[in-house]
Amino acid sequence: MSSRLSPIDTAKFVAAKRACDFVEDGMRVGLGTGSTAAWLVRCLGEMVNEDGLRITGVPTSSRTADLARKVGIKVVSLDEAKWLDVTIDGADEFDGELNLIKGGGGALLQEKIVATASDRMVVIADRTKQVETLGAFPLPIEVVPFGWQTTKALVEETLSSLDVMGDSGILRMIGDTPFVTDEGNYIIDLHLHRIDNARQLALILNQIPGIVENGLFIDICDVVVMGHGDGRVEVRDINTGVRTEDRIEFIDNDNLFTDLTD
Ligand code: A5P
Repeated sequence: MSSRLSPIDTAKFVAAKRACDFVEDGMRVGLGTGSTAAWLVRCLGEMVNEDGLRITGVPTSSRTADLARKVGIKVVSLDEAKWLDVTIDGADEFDGELNLIKGGGGALLQEKIVATASDRMVVIADRTKQVETLGAFPLPIEVVPFGWQTTKALVEETLSSLDVMGDSGILRMIGDTPFVTDEGNYIIDLHLHRIDNARQLALILNQIPGIVENGLFIDICDVVVMGHGDGRVEVRDINTGVRTEDRIEFIDNDNLFTDLTD
């Protein structure tokens, strides 16, 4: 393997490549959002074009929908697909029980709906996403714009009485304006540092009016495919307890998705 790709991109690529093994001809596949998921979409596009793979993709964001169409994957809405065989997506953090923080890319709502409507969710990640305890990565919550400051104050008041280390929320911005999700909502990033009871927190947050969804994915992920910068890939299935490790060999040439952007 040559070294045109950085170690982190190699790790993302090999995780995505290995995760393609979970996709079979005729499947309905949830397509995640983010830089790792973009590798997956490209790999699947290659399989569609070069190997004749027939799949139907349900994207979790407008960005992913654009990329999927561009690489030749047939795209339908979740309501058209109704139920999916597998969803493959990135994550911002995953712990030993394969609970996740997601939403760094702002697509957590569609991501959670799509993953929940799937027989199996496979997370693809590099090893920096593996954590002992969730919470170092700011937890995104999607809130409706109406009264968002009041919602934020209510969230902070709630957090101060819970088992988390921080309680401040920051409205996600793009320059001078709030980041707006595909659903027309805002994102508040909660700087909690450590979440000792993620299950409880996920339930409590969704009780607060104004919060549409939070980025904690509890009991949703079935498999994590973790890539390394040297091409090794570890696969862990939480349901069977099986862990495997192998190595993806590939030629890192100029044609390897050089126009990939996300
Ligand atoms: C998108 O909203 C997120 O949930 C992404 O899946 C997550 O941020 C991982 O993104 P990267 O693969 O770019 O790290």
